[in-house]
Amino acid sequence: MQYIELIYIVSTVLLIIGLRKLSSPSTARNGNVLAALGMGSAILVAIFSPMTDDHGNLLYIFAGILAGAVIGLIYSKKVEMTGIPELVSIFNGFGGACAVSISILEAYKFNSSSTLGLMTTTYMALFIGGVAFTGSLIAYGKLAGKVKDWRSKVSSYFNLIWLMACIGLIIFQVINPMTYTFLPLVILTVSLIYGLTFVWPIGGADMPVVISLLNALTGIAAALAGIVYGNMVMILGGVLVGSSGAILTVLMCKAMNRSLINVVVGGFGASSSAISADQGDIKETTANDTAIMMRYAQNVMVIPGYGMAVAQAQKACKELDKSLSSRGVNVNYAIHPVAGRMPGHMNVLLAEADVPYSKLIDLDDANGMLTDTDVCLVVGANDVVNPSALDDPGSPIYGMPVLEILNSKNVVVLKRSMNKGYSGIENPLFFHDKTKMLFGDAKDTIESLNNEVKVMD
Ligand code: TAP
Repeated sequence: MQYIELIYIVSTVLLIIGLRKLSSPSTARNGNVLAALGMGSAILVAIFSPMTDDHGNLLYIFAGILAGAVIGLIYSKKVEMTGIPELVSIFNGFGGACAVSISILEAYKFNSSSTLGLMTTTYMALFIGGVAFTGSLIAYGKLAGKVKDWRSKVSSYFNLIWLMACIGLIIFQVINPMTYTFLPLVILTVSLIYGLTFVWPIGGADMPVVISLLNALTGIAAALAGIVYGNMVMILGGVLVGSSGAILTVLMCKAMNRSLINVVVGGFGASSSAISADQGDIKETTANDTAIMMRYAQNVMVIPGYGMAVAQAQKACKELDKSLSSRGVNVNYAIHPVAGRMPGHMNVLLAEADVPYSKLIDLDDANGMLTDTDVCLVVGANDVVNPSALDDPGSPIYGMPVLEILNSKNVVVLKRSMNKGYSGIENPLFFHDKTKMLFGDAKDTIESLNNEVKVMD
């Protein structure tokens, strides 16, 4: 039996090292492979462990694994970079569904000798897994544009009632385990509904927080299910996912200036279309003027945002960077933690284009460098450079840390139109004296800029 424990420990170590390596783009790929090896070995040991009763189920188990692996492989090969958050959401939902399946089966095995601890753990796994499952499906639908935001003034109260109902039912069921046999199914149904009503009203800028919170919930549900089965790797894997999801949630909350309690209660930070008062005139510029300004600048800061991902402009950025750098211009990239649609979105795209990691500057450091920056080139970013976050207490994003690019000498914004960003609010940056707008698809515009720079000395 000892070799089983040993393989479980090796699997856990692989998961921990894998997770650690995910913290840097240069090691993330290896980290993923190591974590997958850890998970794969843990699954195999769990299946073939002499402690597991076979019951002739091996065929079903391998059929399930094969079907899941094929679907996962096809889906992840097909998915576009911009669709990764949706993919993460749906994978996360299936993790919640696993915890639900395990715990509902176990709940119907309880008898008069079942302990209070085991029952509480199982029902908590059922509840948390259920919320993570339907919540993730709604998050997937919203990110894929298939589910529209819905909220009413009473959504938060409504959510609190569902939450209280669920906790009350679990307490009742644990105290009176054998009284009503249908109660586990009621708990499951209420959890699934709570997952829906919890995520549905949340829109706009809070979505990343919700996704990482759901991720944390799935981890916790998996850890609880691991306790039910006494499976060490499941517990540790769940704890790792749960705690990293929770840390990311807190970091995202800080980056988006939202308190966690508002996210948990639901319905806060939905899209707003505030500030539609006349903002003044915008100033348009040309590729030629912008290229001259950048060529004769000392320091250029590229500010990538979601539009860079849409336009797939990262390689064009790298080429422009090469042309400018070879002419003595110092080019860096200011990375806002929630630029794009998923954590690390900009880092992944720029790494794909072989932009050196040393050029990717975090929010705080970038803000420190902006006063010495001659030109800020905003490539399809909008919310993350919105100065209302700094100076308009009436703005829904007031207090959110943003890239303070108006501290630089010149700002050029590349976008296709005057459309708003993800949060749906107006951006006074575009109307500021320092700002010039260069309209067009970001990739085409950057290629034109590069062509102009290349013919200069
Ligand atoms: P956004 O505020 O979403 O703005 C993106 C801008 O890109 C739009 O204004 C759009 O304007 C422009 N754009 C789109 N396609 C383009 C193209 N082909 N060429 C040029 N421009 C293009 O982006 P952001 O500044 O990166 O902010 C991210 C937002 O998403 C934040 O509100 C954040 O909270 C939210 N969010 C983030 C995440 C994570 S974790 N990163 C996840 C979900 C949501 P035009 O249409 O006029 O071109």
